[in-house]
Amino acid sequence: MAKPKKRYICTECGSVSHRWQGQCADCGQWNTLEEERAETTFSARHDLSKGGRAIAFEALDAPTQPLERQSTGLAEFDRALGGGVVPGSAILMGGEPGIGKSTLLLQASAAISRKGGDVVYVSGEEATGQVRLRAGRLGLADAPIRLAAATSVRDILTTLGDDPPPAMLVVDSIQTMHSDMIEGAPGTVSQVRASAFELIRYAKENGVALVLVGHVTKDGNIAGPRVLEHMVDVVMSFEGERSHQYRILRALKNRFGAVDEIGVFAMEGQGLEEVANPSMLFLSGREEPVAGSAVFPALEGTRPVLVEIQALIVRLQSGATPRRAVVGWDSGRLAMLLAVLESRCGLNFSSAEVYLNVAGGYRLSDPAADLAVAAALVSALSDKPLPLRSIWFGEVSLSGEIRPVAHAGLRLREAAKLGFDRACGPAEGGQDVPKLRYSAVSGLTGLVDRVMASA
Ligand code: TYD
Ligand code: MG
Repeated sequence: MAKPKKRYICTECGSVSHRWQGQCADCGQWNTLEEERAETTFSARHDLSKGGRAIAFEALDAPTQPLERQSTGLAEFDRALGGGVVPGSAILMGGEPGIGKSTLLLQASAAISRKGGDVVYVSGEEATGQVRLRAGRLGLADAPIRLAAATSVRDILTTLGDDPPPAMLVVDSIQTMHSDMIEGAPGTVSQVRASAFELIRYAKENGVALVLVGHVTKDGNIAGPRVLEHMVDVVMSFEGERSHQYRILRALKNRFGAVDEIGVFAMEGQGLEEVANPSMLFLSGREEPVAGSAVFPALEGTRPVLVEIQALIVRLQSGATPRRAVVGWDSGRLAMLLAVLESRCGLNFSSAEVYLNVAGGYRLSDPAADLAVAAALVSALSDKPLPLRSIWFGEVSLSGEIRPVAHAGLRLREAAKLGFDRACGPAEGGQDVPKLRYSAVSGLTGLVDRVMASA
């Protein structure tokens, strides 16, 4: 019978090796390898319930260190992160090409380095000259950032290995990085995964805040393996229409905080400006009432943002299949709403093209937008404008009922502050606030009657 092999297990990270070493190859701790208790009987080798180490259980309320957070120097960035970056954490920053990821990270890096934090900015996409040009244009050329153009993860980690670790390491982008541990061209799934793995391990071991830029594919997912999203602690998405000025920074996943706060920026000639009070940004500033336009008080985290929803309905004479096009909202949700309006209210959209647009390049994800979208659709269909200073909110169910939404009071108070005097929403949760009259709509039929009656 073959001699059973000894195994050594690291008491810190649990990794297994077949030879004793002073330092664990996986977590780098010293003198943590212990020989596994030899259980060589046949049954022990085929029974997972024996021969392992005992795990120590802990109470949930055992004392822990409070999370240390570091400001990025941009309040809107901090807000989206849930209060700043956590040292030793990995952040994936996704967004379409040209949306402003490199600009945002350069501005944050400059702010941190100006306050004395050591920031390493590695660009795999642009030459250092290009980054310097941008820094010059943004007025950040004097910031003491350590800048390099590199694509080899080994080169990056070798260089960093000689110095005390930086406070923040920015890698722009992970798709350009190459690890020589495995085969394959940069950008392939295995390369992206291997490069990210090495960089994240360095960040965790050294308490470095790591920011990886990730490209997104056409359908909005971060290119490369989905597993990248599992490997990092925080996934951020930088959104907006390139033709519009406004940009929204949103956390899609955050192991250290809530994911409902957004950061709002405006892309100006001098880089990204923070927008501290975004509630009026996405209104088109119209003076006359127009059919097909409804204002919705969206809620982003704790901040209300008023957005204008525009609908256009075009009747088709021929029997051609009508188009439905949506910008800034979910097309599946629009199809559902049209179906409910047809079947519960007897409206006919089947021979009409339907276009829906959320003004200002804003992307709506709040389900409370249903009623505002329905109001815009009915208003467009009947060619009756909604009252100019009115807001609409409520979730629509398949039965055509209007369901209550979260934080109705907050939405109403913000609208009143901005000069709106009428609101329509669900029966529960809404009420008059100073200078604003609230009307409850019980169902979609009630909404249709109300829109038809407004002239
Ligand atoms: P960039 O940060 O390079 O985008 P990404 O890294 O996401 O691909 O920025 C892209 C756009 O931002 C670029 O097309 C020009 C615009 N821009 C400005 O409008 N103002 C500025 O000050 C800067 C630096 C860029
Ligand atoms: Mg870039």
